[in-house]
Amino acid sequence: MAAPADARTLPYSWYGDEAILREERTRIFARCWQYGGRAAQVAAAGSFLATDAGGVPIVVTRDREGELRAFLNVCRHRGAVLTEGCGERATLQCHYHAWTYELDGRLRSAPRSEREPGFDNEEWSLLPACVGTWGPFLFVSPDPDAVPLADHLGDLPGILARAIDVDAIEFHSRVEFGAEANWKIVVENFLECYHCPTAHPGFSAEVDVHPDRYGLEAHPTFAAQFAQAKRSGERGQFHLLYPNTGINVFPGPPNLSIGPIAPHGPYRTQRYLDYFFAPGVEAEWLTEFFAFDDQVGREDTALVESVQRGMASGLLPNGRLLLGSEPLLAAFQGWLAEQLR
Ligand code: FES
Ligand SMILES: [Fe+2]
Repeated sequence: MAAPADARTLPYSWYGDEAILREERTRIFARCWQYGGRAAQVAAAGSFLATDAGGVPIVVTRDREGELRAFLNVCRHRGAVLTEGCGERATLQCHYHAWTYELDGRLRSAPRSEREPGFDNEEWSLLPACVGTWGPFLFVSPDPDAVPLADHLGDLPGILARAIDVDAIEFHSRVEFGAEANWKIVVENFLECYHCPTAHPGFSAEVDVHPDRYGLEAHPTFAAQFAQAKRSGERGQFHLLYPNTGINVFPGPPNLSIGPIAPHGPYRTQRYLDYFFAPGVEAEWLTEFFAFDDQVGREDTALVESVQRGMASGLLPNGRLLLGSEPLLAAFQGWLAEQLR
């Protein structure tokens, strides 16, 4: 008997193709909410944060009236990335020819523009984007007409609240890493624990990965996984907020990591995770936690890079999902196909 239609993986040709990535950039990354950093980075009036939404440079500002805004972080003069990093500043000045913008995006001054007949500052404001916060987390969308962030989050804050109070955790550190694999391979690897018994012996010794007790739930805008520690019974949650925000809460003292899974070309994924913990978590536990997390991360990197090389052989059109164990891959692929249609 043939496999059901939705049990086919996406075509392998989608995982190493410039044209598909261009479509994903315009139809997904230029339109969707993505994790952009910490709300605390733009808490003060007069602060800014340069961030990135799947390759689209975005700058978030808090103007002197306290209003939070986001713009395409691209100078209207000749297209330089306008600003980098974060901090407090009265205006945003381009490093190339010193065009200077107000924190509300209006062009304040452009050197020598008074010599140009008909030059009108009003016409050269930064392009607006969207910004929103959820607890300590900041999200951006390059689309100025994006749905409200709360609509995109849907039931996720309520579900996550069963595992952790996001308003009671403190930022600890950011860890950056990457893999030589298409971003969708990295996302799909994150969406199942079918590989856990084989590929993550340390994780599977601690966490119950039996299919009857490891929960998988597809929601309209996110995919949720629920796990339990074998010994303590403490609960963890792992979420992918479409298209590319990963959120991890491991069983144990209050901990959370969050960050984007972003394409850097068809064969390269760049990631970072912002780690948050409850105040006063023991240093010894933290050391063990990071060692454990790093071990699982290295195992996953080896897996996704292997998938990239295997797919690139070019002799197989696609693979076969096990819908009982990989329903979140089917859900993600369905969502993706919908966006790209
Ligand atoms: S590109 Fe920004 S001032 Fe010229
Ligand atoms: Fe894994």
